[in-house]
Amino acid sequence: MGRLRKWYKEWFPSLANTCCNEDLNNQDSKPLNQNQAVEARYGAAAKAKEACLCTPVGFNPRFLEVIPNDVIERDYGCGDPTRWVKRGDHVLDLGSGGGKNAFICSQIVGRSGSVIGIDRSEEMLSLAKNAAQIVAKKIGYSNVNFIKGSIESLDEKDTNNVQIVRSSSVNIVLSNCVLNLVNPSARIRLLKNIRRVLSPMGRVAISDIVSNKEVPLRLQKDSDLWSGCISGAWQEERFLEDFQELGFKEVIFADRSDKPWKVLEGIEFRAVTLTAHL
Ligand SMILES: C[S@@+](CC[C@H](N)C(=O)[O-])C[C@H]1O[C@@H](n2cnc3c(N)ncnc32)[C@H](O)[C@@H]1O
Repeated sequence: MGRLRKWYKEWFPSLANTCCNEDLNNQDSKPLNQNQAVEARYGAAAKAKEACLCTPVGFNPRFLEVIPNDVIERDYGCGDPTRWVKRGDHVLDLGSGGGKNAFICSQIVGRSGSVIGIDRSEEMLSLAKNAAQIVAKKIGYSNVNFIKGSIESLDEKDTNNVQIVRSSSVNIVLSNCVLNLVNPSARIRLLKNIRRVLSPMGRVAISDIVSNKEVPLRLQKDSDLWSGCISGAWQEERFLEDFQELGFKEVIFADRSDKPWKVLEGIEFRAVTLTAHL
């Protein structure tokens, strides 16, 4: 059995027939390694669609025509942050997965713009990179680059001793359902990096799952709730405040679903899209 499938079976035994393990009497007894749990789950979800991770989102169908089906169906986002992207933008997509959002941005920004997609999963990157050639052929230009890295460590140096995403190098950072997968201990570094890579007047459009109350530590220790975008959800007011504290203006939820996506132990989890500018 491959390394990935072995981990997946080991970490998510409860997901054999259901979505997130919501039986809280059935929590994992072993200590949670969040990165390993996320890597195993999304590595597998890159190879075969995992319906439990899909939230129906209506994208502009015009932009989907050139994107291969395996990317379209492995859409694990929870909103459409691409609606805030403009022609000529230089975009950074945090946790780009199979590349769907990046390929939509590629068409919106046009030849004069560019898109960087960053993801930690080799399997997701391979799905995205294969599709990039097909999309480029169909649209007649190539302006998307997928790189491997952790979104909280954009300041890490590459083999040429250059930061993997340079300071002030993009004018919009977007993300679709990924910030909640970052370990809370790395949130400050993540936020500082988002601020650092943006040029003056830079913007953010971040679709994510937030909660109406703090998620208790006990739920944070559940590996499938964690990788299923629940346990790491930002408390919603805190999410807005953290971006205000970074110096962003007009920090709002441009989208916020009235109906919660999930309710667990009385905590409401819902999809939002936060937008703001420097
Ligand atoms: C819920 S999926 C969303 C993928 C994509 N944005 C979409 O809309 O389909 C989360 C993605 O983020 C990646 N990811 C999770 N944590 C990450 C991290 N700390 N750094 C980089 N990528 C990460 C996973 O590998 C996965 O591809």
